[in-house]
Amino acid sequence: MKTILTYGTFDLFHIGHLNLLERARSLGDKLIVAISTDEFNLNMKGKVTAYPYQDRKRILESLCCVDFVIPEHNWEQKIEDVKTHKVDTFVMGHDWEGEFDFLKAHCEVIYLPRTNNISSSQIKEHIRKGQVTQIAGEACF
Ligand code: CTP
Repeated sequence: MKTILTYGTFDLFHIGHLNLLERARSLGDKLIVAISTDEFNLNMKGKVTAYPYQDRKRILESLCCVDFVIPEHNWEQKIEDVKTHKVDTFVMGHDWEGEFDFLKAHCEVIYLPRTNNISSSQIKEHIRKGQVTQIAGEACF
């Protein structure tokens, strides 16, 4: 049984998120997703999420590629999460390349290519500007 762990906000769930989660799940038998709480986003990342934590959690839990969700409260909890959940592989999108290499002392660390041309911030920006054009993420893998 190989356990995979990944982290993120997953606000305004989009195709880039789905691509990342499906590929993460395909690397093992169980995928745990740590979703950053509203407080963590506001206080640490300076971001207000459009969807509250409970809604982001429910959306992710409904996906067949996600086995269960835990909250991300701070930057420091990763080593403890890896140990608690007996994680074999930690996965993040390549925008975080190198940032979590310190976890290599505890598990395998893999950075997956991001989907081009889509992000939660970009969607918010489109809505803010009143743009009605479609945003289609381009998988680059
Ligand atoms: N991700 C991805 N491709 C995208 C957007 C996100 O692979 N186009 C991945 C990130 O690399 C991360 C996970 O999805 O591993 C969660 O990312 P998150 O920061 O929640 O999504 P973004 O859309 O990048 O959000 P923001 O614009 O607020 O940074």
